[in-house]
Amino acid sequence: ADPDPLQDFCVADQSASSISVNGFPCKPASEVTSDDFFFDGLSKVGDTSNIFGSNVTGGNVLTFPALNTLGISMNRVDFAPGGVNPPHSHPRATESGVVIEGKLLVGFVTTGNVYHSKVLTAGQMFVIPRGLVHFQKNVGVGKALVIAAFNSQLPGAVVLPFTLFASTPSIPDDVLTRAFQVEEKVVESIKSKFSS
Ligand code: GLV
Ligand code: MN
Repeated sequence: ADPDPLQDFCVADQSASSISVNGFPCKPASEVTSDDFFFDGLSKVGDTSNIFGSNVTGGNVLTFPALNTLGISMNRVDFAPGGVNPPHSHPRATESGVVIEGKLLVGFVTTGNVYHSKVLTAGQMFVIPRGLVHFQKNVGVGKALVIAAFNSQLPGAVVLPFTLFASTPSIPDDVLTRAFQVEEKVVESIKSKFSS
C-alpha cells in the first residue's frame, strides 16, 4: 500500500529529524552496510506478562530502518495461554499471518458488521483486509506464536481499548456512556484498568 521506491534502497536515517517527509530520508549510501539489511528482533520471545497476556514485537521501519520506502513489514506476536491480542486495526496495511505454534482463534469484523473467525494451528494462514478490526486469542493449552506480514513499512495500530479508554486527553465520559449505552461507573471502571 505504501508508495513505490524510487531507488534500490533507502535505509532510514532516523536521526535526520529536522526535515519531515512521507517516511524517512535515506542514510547516505556510502554509510550503508550489509548489517542494515538484516534484523534479528523477531527472534526474541515477547514478554506476555501483562493484562492482555500477549506481546507484539514489530519489525517495521522504526526497528528495521532498511524497510524504509519498501512497503512491507512483519510482526511477531507471542501469547500466553488464554492471552488476547485485543481488537485493533491497521490504518495503512492489509495483514496476513501464519501461526507458528499453538492454537489461535483469529477473528475480524467487516464494515457491514459481519464477523469472520476460525481457530488455526501451526502452518495455517489468515488475512485481515486493510483497516478492519481484528483480534487473536490463544485457545490452546500452551503458548502460541504468530508471524504477521503487512504491505506497509509502518502499518500503524489503532488498539480499541486504548484508543477509546486510554487516550490523552481522555474521550469525555458522556460520549462513551452514550456510545456504549452504559453507566458512567462502567466507563470509569474500564478507564481505570488502563491508567498507568
Ligand atoms: C496482529 O494482528 C498484529 O497486528 O501483529
Ligand atoms: Mn493486526
